[in-house]
Amino acid sequence: MNQDIILDVKDLNAWFGNFHAVKSISKSYKKNTINAIIGPSGCGKSTYLRCLNRIHEEVPGAKVSGEAIIDGQNIFDPKADPVEVRRKIGMVFQKPNPFPAMSIYENVVIGLKLQGIKKKSFLLEQAENCLRKAALWDEVKDKLNKDGMSLSGGQQQRLCIARTLAVNPPVVLMDEPTSALDPIASAKIEDLMSELKKEYTVIVVTHNMQQAARISDYTSFFVLGELIEHNLSSEIFTRPKMKQTEDYITGRFG
Ligand SMILES: Nc1ncnc2c1ncn2[C@@H]1O[C@H](COP(=O)(O)OP(=O)(O)O)[C@@H](O)[C@H]1O
Ligand SMILES: [Mg+2]
Repeated sequence: MNQDIILDVKDLNAWFGNFHAVKSISKSYKKNTINAIIGPSGCGKSTYLRCLNRIHEEVPGAKVSGEAIIDGQNIFDPKADPVEVRRKIGMVFQKPNPFPAMSIYENVVIGLKLQGIKKKSFLLEQAENCLRKAALWDEVKDKLNKDGMSLSGGQQQRLCIARTLAVNPPVVLMDEPTSALDPIASAKIEDLMSELKKEYTVIVVTHNMQQAARISDYTSFFVLGELIEHNLSSEIFTRPKMKQTEDYITGRFG
């Protein structure tokens, strides 16, 4: 496989019972890039990310077929451990979801503790490191033992990003990470994503075209479960090849 490719999705399909929600998606993701996914509501964007984080299968009646290769392994292989997969492909959700009744510090290090890491100095160092990467350290360094839920919405989302980064996943999925936030908090997360791509590969669903154009290197356009067009974002937003893409990005449909 091309050295630049971190994640290679091949013929990915997902169903809810008989409903075919994600249809034969093939797409490879390059290291250190931000990849936006856009498309009308209900076109399968969240389902696609949830497949890559091995959580779609938790819905009763749900099914997946196809492959997603990372480190030479198919994440859907029956032998692949979903917990291991999530250490390689982390996910940040639309609504900030810090663990309740847990301090800021505990929220960040929980993944490491679950891996059996106990050394306090290491955990503290990692907490600081991840909170810095999530651009939250300066705001919380004096109150690490406060409840994670006591933070503002924008801070909670950055806490969730820090929690995701703690286990150092090479790929980070984000499902509309700024849609529940005000413009200032959203701008902070956008800046942060550009920083993150130095170390990670980000796949981000957004309904905000300006955001996708600003922050992403590549954009995929989904309609009714299908990948209609994908290209450099600079191309998609200035010279889309398909009429459906053009109609969507100019606000005529969706
Ligand atoms: N738990 C579920 N059970 C049945 N159908 C679902 C479920 N979740 C989502 N769907 C359907 O799958 C399709 C894709 O949904 P989703 O991936 O959430 O779209 P998007 O994130 O692009 O808005 C939609 O038609 C939606 O109604
Ligand atoms: Mg969604």
